[in-house]
Amino acid sequence: MPGARVWISPWIIHRHRGYWQAPDAFMPERFENQASPWTSGGPFMPFGLGPRICIGAAFAMAEAQILLASLLKAYSISRLDQRPVLPVGGITTMPSYQARFRIEAR
Ligand code: HEM
Repeated sequence: MPGARVWISPWIIHRHRGYWQAPDAFMPERFENQASPWTSGGPFMPFGLGPRICIGAAFAMAEAQILLASLLKAYSISRLDQRPVLPVGGITTMPSYQARFRIEAR
């Protein structure tokens, strides 16, 4: 219908059974051997899609990997309890509560 508003919800698409096997499971291996699944144009769209895709996507991914590699090289990080942390949808995705961690120098 001309003039209709179309809302795209990455939250729903990222959890849609039509696109994902076990959509609620944390399975990073589903992206194995894909160079940049976050910008591939498929149903995974954390940075949006198309001509207005996040201009900082490559920077954000490089920054996150460098930060994680630097931290994990120097420290070992473990949970203080085993209560699951669930994602809560809002303007951004937030953890369901502030989990506590133990950080020890390696
Ligand atoms: C994990 C980190 C980030 C996530 C998840 C993220 C996500 C997004 C999303 C979903 C959009 C909207 C895309 C659309 O309209 O389809 C966006 C736009 C944008 N992002 Fe990011 N972003 C991140 C980091 C960054 C960084 C580090 C920068 C800058 C250095 C940045 C700059 C921008 C800009 C300028 C836009 C507007 C692009 C436009 O409208 O043409 N973002 N981002």
